[in-house]
Amino acid sequence: MNRLNKNIAKVMIASLFLTFATLNAQTAKKGKKISSDLFGLFFEDINYSADGGLYAELVQNRSFEYTPTEQKGWNPYSFWEYTTTGYSFGRISVETNSPIHPNNPHYMFLDVEHIGKEAKFTGVSGVGLKNTGFAGIVVKVNEKYNFSMFVRQLSKEPISFNISLQTPKGKVIAEAKLTTNSTDWKKYTASLLASESEENANLVILATSEGKLALDVVSLFPEKTFKNRPNGLRADLAQLLADMKPSFIRFPGGCLAHGDGLGNMYRWKNTIGPNEVRKEQRNIWGYNQTAGLGYFEYFQFCEDIGAKPLPVLPAAVSCQNSGNTWSIGGTGQRVLPLNEMNEYIQEVLDLIEWANGPVTSTWGAKRAAAGHPASFNLQYVGIGNEDKITPEFEERFKMIFDAVKAKHPEIVVIGTVGPSPDGEDFTKGWKFAKELKVPIVDEHYYTSPEWFISNQHRYDTYNRNSTEVYLGEYASWGNKMRNAIAEAAYMTSLERNGDVVRLASYAPLFAKKDYTQWKTDMIFFDNTKVSLTPNYYVQKMFSANQGDYYFGNVISKDEKDANLAASCVQDSKSGDIILKIVNFGKEIKLFKINLEIFGNIPSQAEQTLLVGSEDAENTLEKPNTVVPNISVVKIKKAFDYSAPAMSLTIFRLSTSKGVKK
Ligand code: AHR
Repeated sequence: MNRLNKNIAKVMIASLFLTFATLNAQTAKKGKKISSDLFGLFFEDINYSADGGLYAELVQNRSFEYTPTEQKGWNPYSFWEYTTTGYSFGRISVETNSPIHPNNPHYMFLDVEHIGKEAKFTGVSGVGLKNTGFAGIVVKVNEKYNFSMFVRQLSKEPISFNISLQTPKGKVIAEAKLTTNSTDWKKYTASLLASESEENANLVILATSEGKLALDVVSLFPEKTFKNRPNGLRADLAQLLADMKPSFIRFPGGCLAHGDGLGNMYRWKNTIGPNEVRKEQRNIWGYNQTAGLGYFEYFQFCEDIGAKPLPVLPAAVSCQNSGNTWSIGGTGQRVLPLNEMNEYIQEVLDLIEWANGPVTSTWGAKRAAAGHPASFNLQYVGIGNEDKITPEFEERFKMIFDAVKAKHPEIVVIGTVGPSPDGEDFTKGWKFAKELKVPIVDEHYYTSPEWFISNQHRYDTYNRNSTEVYLGEYASWGNKMRNAIAEAAYMTSLERNGDVVRLASYAPLFAKKDYTQWKTDMIFFDNTKVSLTPNYYVQKMFSANQGDYYFGNVISKDEKDANLAASCVQDSKSGDIILKIVNFGKEIKLFKINLEIFGNIPSQAEQTLLVGSEDAENTLEKPNTVVPNISVVKIKKAFDYSAPAMSLTIFRLSTSKGVKK
């Protein structure tokens, strides 16, 4: 074929597919319109999800701000060791006089009294500190690591440093030299190239000349973060989330958002700007949060993976379980005094300006200064997290809600209705939200797989002309196949009810091995490995296969068997038709599929099958016991499908492939 003919052929094929996609997009209108944002993610810094997890910082306690309020025995020296080599000596102490910033009050003072020059010692003589990372620092051969530290030189002469990464036995596997040149706080940087791999390395900072200095915000990042962002995310973990193609990400919590008492509420303004001015604080889950993964990084990550940001701000009340009052009925809710509400409301409004406002606005300018002049297109804002519905809560929520509605009618506010699928807070929360005409409320439930199976009709009777639902946290108790498949069955009911359920996200997302506060999670990891639960695969299969039109009559099954579930959606943008078929039972079951309504359909589909025994699970040691199997299968307008026991099957009929090529 000559070039001209080839081009004509290409155009013809493209227009054929285009017609096909357009026809299918028209067909979509025959279905029921459902939310195009349905399946997203909920990220909370629980189980070391952020520091020591998704946030790629390798130095632990980088700013010497750890305190015993986080964990007994923790203090500014935690995860640091005083180190001398070559018969040198000196002393260290933690000081607070003239810190880098009031938000970052502690720093390390180092008095290098003597650098040994004994001829018998052939290594680097010095006085300094060693950081042991988050249970070791992972270093990969031939990869680069970005080191930085702030130093205030307190003596007249410049101070020289040797920075190295070392194996546990002290072998140097990466090295750099730095010299101070300022008596003010100044950031010094170096790139460390690893000569070998080591999963348990230490970072060693040795002052190699005598003098006094102050040291703070000692940081080490792999050069290869997700999308190579500075102050970025651990690439492998972030990629797992990107692969899910979530519609949105809710952050930063959970209980972390409303906090353990008023002083522990997550205040977004403390989490933006350079790291050295961010305010570290106790993580409600029993460790420290650096806020290095702060609002800017959350928003940037959302943008990087095409997810809408969904920040949750406290409703000016703390967690009702503050002070561990969980066991006596959650009597610990603390509320901001009314005379502080104006300032707090302004903080909420400022977030919207920071995210969306022009660069000429006060807060838009701060976003631009951080490197993002364009708007982040914030659409959703959550106010409150499963709070106890008290009169004090209602008063404060209403004040915030009214102010946002008045100044930013374009923002969709999400309210909260307690921690359970029913009960007092649920009932009161819904009543209050409906009276106030809150657009969406956030329901939470963690319960048994059986509950999910027998409650698949929960949303069928919800009022379509009132407040909508964000199922912000849900999971069945466990990470075995039966948990995941029960969730899959339930998720087909979310699609069926996608005209009232606007958003849904499984929780919690991440858990680090040996640092886990919450038993059932979606992704388990350690410093080098990940284990994807069957629940992850179910979530991914749904979120990467979303549609915006629902078709109720395409798949038939035994309606009396609650173990069987199915849904059919179409994505009107691509025209793709997606079938989801779930069998929670112990035997193969028949489903009948009739695609007549779609007119012409492709002759083949991509089939993704997740199947396994009901107790099957993945672990870090055996991560691949249950994995989805993808194949291409022939498809007819009407066909029968025998769904294996304990399985989720997805058929994706791609009507747009040709157009994209
Ligand atoms: O997802 C874990 C916790 O469960 C969340 O922080 C909280 O909102 C819920 O109680």
